[in-house]
Amino acid sequence: MNINEKQINEILIKFEYNSDSLIPILREVQKLNDEKYISREVAIYIADEINVTHSRIYEVMTFFDAINTEPKGRNHIQICESSVCKINGMDSIEECLVNELKINVGEVTKDKEFSLDYTPCFGACDVAPALRINKKVYGNLTPDKIKVIIEKLRGDTIESV
Ligand code: FES
Repeated sequence: MNINEKQINEILIKFEYNSDSLIPILREVQKLNDEKYISREVAIYIADEINVTHSRIYEVMTFFDAINTEPKGRNHIQICESSVCKINGMDSIEECLVNELKINVGEVTKDKEFSLDYTPCFGACDVAPALRINKKVYGNLTPDKIKVIIEKLRGDTIESV
């Protein structure tokens, strides 16, 4: 297991092993993992401990955008794939990201610094095209702005972006 079993148990105790708290449990357990995901092994462990079926836990994990079933980069970039962002030039933003990071959507860079994924609209249509990086929204994007953001993330100075 890539996460300490003791740490998972502490979270399960906090939520009193209550299966109604499955989503907050998964969110907290995911935070324990630097790669921001819940492995199959961890999912099965949680399911057995709180007495939910393996199919139920996978259903929840795949339904909720905030729960990842695959490893993500330290900077997880979510590209909005909904219509307002699309018609406002998201294709050129995506192309720029793919070129800058040298990965395709759905992949993680070799150094595990960046990952790219699609996400549905997250309500930032007024600043389309928009994306989220580690849940923070970046809007009114242009290819030049993306290059600056990536450069600053590489230098760990995201606060000043
Ligand atoms: S369509 Fe992209 S944030 Fe709403």
